[in-house]
Amino acid sequence: MSAREAASRILEAVDESGRHYRDSLPMIASENILSPLVRKACDSDLHGRYAEGLPGKRYYQGCDDFDTIEEIGIAAAKRVFNCNFANIQSTSGTVSNMAGLKALAKPGDTITAVSTADGGHISHARMGAVGVRGLNLVTYPWIESRMEPDIDAAAALIRETEPNVALFGQSVFLFPTPLEELADAAHEVGAKVMYDAAHVLGLIAGNQFQDPLREGADVMTGSSHKTFPGPQGGFLLSNSDDPKFQRRLNSAIFPGPSRSRQSGGTSRVRRVRC
Ligand SMILES: Cc1ncc(COP(=O)(O)O)c(C=O)c1O
Repeated sequence: MSAREAASRILEAVDESGRHYRDSLPMIASENILSPLVRKACDSDLHGRYAEGLPGKRYYQGCDDFDTIEEIGIAAAKRVFNCNFANIQSTSGTVSNMAGLKALAKPGDTITAVSTADGGHISHARMGAVGVRGLNLVTYPWIESRMEPDIDAAAALIRETEPNVALFGQSVFLFPTPLEELADAAHEVGAKVMYDAAHVLGLIAGNQFQDPLREGADVMTGSSHKTFPGPQGGFLLSNSDDPKFQRRLNSAIFPGPSRSRQSGGTSRVRRVRC
């Protein structure tokens, strides 16, 4: 196929996909239809631009328009999720999870999470972000017939395991997570609580599900393009007003902390002469 033919075939498929979704009712929870307003913003010059750093503290010049957009986006996210901190730079829910784990744990730490068999996302598994971060994974006891955690057994497991991070939230779930009870157990043993709201973020924004940041989650992650009907991206949210913790979350998204600055990290960076 020539380059011209390939381009034309791709554009046909793009149009076909648009027609297909216009004429059907997609029931896939991880997908949405962009509003004309979001489409307009995505189909703009901004698509090919970089804005590394934070508003007002960029790594190079020419980011004033990005600063305006990002400042408005951060303020809106804080308002919608009623929280003190929002980072809206992540490119997806998975990247938000990787950043959350980077900020809250160091390699060799232990994490408790929902197994993929019980509805947890692949990024909560050894083959996903949890494994990439080098964490030891312990999964919660589950009542399969009710598609819910066994609350007492899960709380006991957290108290016994003493994880550094207790991760909640799933891809497949019918009911809100009993977060208050489990977050209490996690905080008792000094664990940070992270809630992955990727699939249900739109419901949380509309007050139609649970409210993790008021039920004990220290950090909430999510995708901006599933039930939350925005463009492709991700959130890192927290109610913490501790500037040090907020800096740790921001730098986990970009540029990512050095080994010696990781949470609780005592390892030193060895300089190797090449
Ligand atoms: C619970 C959960 N977390 C994270 C993700 C990944 O999100 P993304 O596709 O934005 O990387 C998904 C995807 O469906 C998910 O269900």
